[in-house]
Amino acid sequence: METMKRTVTCGELRTDHSGKTVVLNGWVHRKRDHGGITFINLRDRYGVTQVVVDTKTPYDAPPNSAASGGATGAFAPDIDAVTAELRNEYCIAVQGTVRPRPREMVNPSMPTGAVEVLASGIVILNRAEPLPFQIDEETNANEDLRLTYRYLDLRSEGMRKRIKLRSDVTFAVREFMINENFYEIETPTFIKSTPEGARDYLVPSRLHAGAFYALPQSPQLYKQLLMAGGFDKYFQIARCYRDEDARGDRQPEFTQIDIEMSFVSRGDILALTERLMRHVFMKTLNVALPEHFTCLTWEEALEKYGSDKPDLRFGLELRDFAPYVENGGFQAFKDALAAGEAEKQAAAAKGVRSAGGGVKALVVSGKADYSRKQIEELEARAKIYKAKGMAWMKVTGGTGGGSADGAAVLEGGVAKFFAASAREIITGLDARTGDLILIIADADRQIVNTALGAVRAKLGKDLRLADPKRFEFVWIVDFPLFAYNAEECRWEAAHHLFSYPQERFHDTMERDPGAVLGDLYDLVLNGYELASGSIRVHNPELQKRIFAITGIGPEEAERKFGFLTTAFKYGAPPHGGIAPGLDRLVMLMAGETSIKEVIAFPKNSFAVSPMDACPSEVEQKQLDELHITIRKP
Ligand code: AMO
Repeated sequence: METMKRTVTCGELRTDHSGKTVVLNGWVHRKRDHGGITFINLRDRYGVTQVVVDTKTPYDAPPNSAASGGATGAFAPDIDAVTAELRNEYCIAVQGTVRPRPREMVNPSMPTGAVEVLASGIVILNRAEPLPFQIDEETNANEDLRLTYRYLDLRSEGMRKRIKLRSDVTFAVREFMINENFYEIETPTFIKSTPEGARDYLVPSRLHAGAFYALPQSPQLYKQLLMAGGFDKYFQIARCYRDEDARGDRQPEFTQIDIEMSFVSRGDILALTERLMRHVFMKTLNVALPEHFTCLTWEEALEKYGSDKPDLRFGLELRDFAPYVENGGFQAFKDALAAGEAEKQAAAAKGVRSAGGGVKALVVSGKADYSRKQIEELEARAKIYKAKGMAWMKVTGGTGGGSADGAAVLEGGVAKFFAASAREIITGLDARTGDLILIIADADRQIVNTALGAVRAKLGKDLRLADPKRFEFVWIVDFPLFAYNAEECRWEAAHHLFSYPQERFHDTMERDPGAVLGDLYDLVLNGYELASGSIRVHNPELQKRIFAITGIGPEEAERKFGFLTTAFKYGAPPHGGIAPGLDRLVMLMAGETSIKEVIAFPKNSFAVSPMDACPSEVEQKQLDELHITIRKP
């Protein structure tokens, strides 16, 4: 057996290895029989090498050959029988001589495509049963089947490349952070449950009946305590756990590149993150990112793109349609603006800010030929985001109205209400003959923006407006610190409870929480939230006020977060940080739309691992030890 241990991998042989005797270990990727000569594509993590089994044709080793015996005629006695038995995914060892392929057989698309190995002996290391699915470059099998046999799926070239990319990215992150003088420090994964945002995964304690550890949703509190501990530059490739509904870019367990620094401003953290991204993209993909990323305020992002995670690989910006409403005859638009204005004034009387209503439009280039059904599909998307409806009109080549391109007119949908100002609208919106105009109005400006933003995102996908090869980063800054939870009638932290309110709001925070902007930032890549972070509160008094605004009384605050606020009393330094999601980063770098594609063993959309049937029931004895009684629904 020792003699059949590999001397080379399946990815490394080239013509200058010709004449060498080698041993390869790997899996039978394909086997083809050509009338007595068998070709085996042998595969391992490094590539594929063509093996030839030909015991009939005399073979003269090249004069400089180091071939000893074997390939010149001395074949292992059972080689034909063993070859006949081989099937896909048999794990085998092959001994043979490297030789150049005949000119017409050279395969330039394979790194090893100029050579082949003439086998002198083959040993079966392990047999494979017929496979549940074919192992191709990418597998067509359905997701649960892929996850049930993930170890087979991992043998595909696509998975292999993505897992390698993930490893390379992780290495590049560590290399960069250590060079920047950060310490990598592990924080506990059995922590106190302090749910905010998502639900915690809980771990029952055997020694303390009725008590639970929680798995961390992120190392947030511990990284802040590390700052209190004087480790002013910390990072960790941290596993995080959140019990929330699965989506393409969400898993119940995932990994963050968690970062925290002391004595820094927002600018320092943004600059560090940009350097980190530049290093990782250059090191792993050889892609040069710009020196600085675009930066939008949260409000700008919503007004321009209708989203706080806009995909900037395409334009299609939201346009203000309000200036054309008054002269038009469409009552619903007028009503929306009037109701929004009334709301704004009522809020102002209470000393609170309201954005009022809005009427905004998207000009979809060249899509005047969209059918009613296609427009209705877009409207349905808008309605998911609470729009009451979506109006439309088309810009067509007429003979009358003046326009950006001369003779265009408005037709269809609500066009008849705007006939008098058609020229003004077409010019003002910079529309062209053949364009489709979509309009949403509401008394709540946020609904206008987010609904139209959702339509923009759908159009981006449907019309393939985004170049899949481009990486478009954008910082979103100046987020509101608090969000109103209408169901529970209370303010809650929009990001988390420890983010710093910008100084200009410190005096008015309690009166108008909705207006408070925080020192918060998100990094968005190609329409995905890649990272989130903030400058933190390090002052116990300010922290108490934030707890109070979010309805957390002193007792609850002490019980849940006392360990943090106590730490702040002992000279905790000003600090801030950020956490890019590693899974999302690698997913986007790999051009995928699901993070499952870059995780070796992910859960399916029901948070289940079909391979090992996890989560699973446990034995009564275990439950007893944990003092747990199950009450089935
Ligand atoms: P946040 O909750 O925004 O911030 O998470 C930071 C980043 O983690 C990734 N992420 C996820 N990835 C996969 N599956 C999930 N379920 C999931 N949830 C989040 C995203 C996201 O941008 N402690 C703060 C960070 C900080 O303030 O420093 C935090 O966890 O890429």
